[in-house]
Amino acid sequence: MDKMRKKFDSICVKDSSKYAPFSHTPPIFASSTFIYESPEKAIEVFKGNEKAFIYGRWSHPNVELVEEKLEALESIDYPDLKVKGFLFSTGMAAIAALFHSVLKPGDTIIAQASIYGSTVELLNALIKPLGIEVMFIDFDDIAPVESSIKASKNVRLLYAETPSNPTLSCCDLRALSDLAHRYGAQMSVDNTFATPCLQRPFNFGVDFIVHSTTKFLNGHGNALGGFLIGKDVAFMTSAVWLQRKLNGAMLSPFDAWLLNNGLKTLSLRMDKHCSNAMQVANFLEQHVAVSKCNYLGLRSSAYHELSKQQMTGFGGVLSFVLKDGMEAGIRLMKNVQFCTLTASLGTADTLIQHPASMTHSNMPKAQREASGISDGMIRLSVGIENVEDIIDDLAQAFHSV
Ligand SMILES: Cc1ncc(COP(=O)(O)O)c(C=O)c1O
Repeated sequence: MDKMRKKFDSICVKDSSKYAPFSHTPPIFASSTFIYESPEKAIEVFKGNEKAFIYGRWSHPNVELVEEKLEALESIDYPDLKVKGFLFSTGMAAIAALFHSVLKPGDTIIAQASIYGSTVELLNALIKPLGIEVMFIDFDDIAPVESSIKASKNVRLLYAETPSNPTLSCCDLRALSDLAHRYGAQMSVDNTFATPCLQRPFNFGVDFIVHSTTKFLNGHGNALGGFLIGKDVAFMTSAVWLQRKLNGAMLSPFDAWLLNNGLKTLSLRMDKHCSNAMQVANFLEQHVAVSKCNYLGLRSSAYHELSKQQMTGFGGVLSFVLKDGMEAGIRLMKNVQFCTLTASLGTADTLIQHPASMTHSNMPKAQREASGISDGMIRLSVGIENVEDIIDDLAQAFHSV
């Protein structure tokens, strides 16, 4: 069964039986270390001649089981493509491992201007001081990215987030990958919003993919996690492996187990997230209090055509701007009764938040506004509940805005 070539939804559901052949669902291997039947075996394992688990910070069965699933999902269109992925304790740990393993002092990284606030903060606060030049550029247009690559000469990595948090901008992964490769750089992307269910960046030439598994991959908001996967297996199993082993940002057995549980319903959930979000976006776009609704499924989205080419669905997240700005946004969040006011996204229930005062508050205001995050912007992660309840709640919350 483990050797059969499975379809996407089946990979999500079916667990490898190699770790515990007697158990229907994988047990939680709540063990910090692993045992050997003899000193000879231990010697061979520590020499690297035999593969076995050694110590929970290095790897463990719960993590390996999910890594194999995510590797299969991200590369499903190219079953012969060799890839290697590692799970981390959080999405930020996975992103940090990417930057620290690829970039050296003197290198330049060009990141998309509109990305998750903590990634901007990581680049500014921890990567720049290492002597690495950090540039933020709008990826809507390829020409300025190419000019910057030419001007800098040391560009080692392009970093995109598509769709991006919270503006829902998209960039052309094929064009950016080709550009990066033409100049000897590599292309990386945060695929958290789409998941491999809706977008598979390896199909567009991308070299590295990162995820916050905390979001749609887990889907239930009960565990943090991150994933970094790359096509250069030798690099992944040396440089990236060392990052996780020595920085110690390993996902715990319980959190990996929860992630595996959530992953089983990924396809079903993503379908419902997409259809609910489309209906909520149609409602918001026509509402008098809303000046703009950003959802890839709307024809008014500048990224509608691009997302149709790159993705198989428009996702579960949207953002909208209130005509009356910050105050109206805060009033709306006070009034909602069904949607939950919280910072995260990608869970089964609908979550609402205000980026300027919450997730993106650590981003300098000028940079925030330049990347399209106005004070009146609200982000909505549309859940899989009955969509009428979501729309009714927003409609009543708008009444007193
Ligand atoms: C697009 C994106 N990438 C990365 C992260 C960071 O993930 P984590 O919170 O799991 O560290 C987030 C968190 O919200 C995110 O939205």
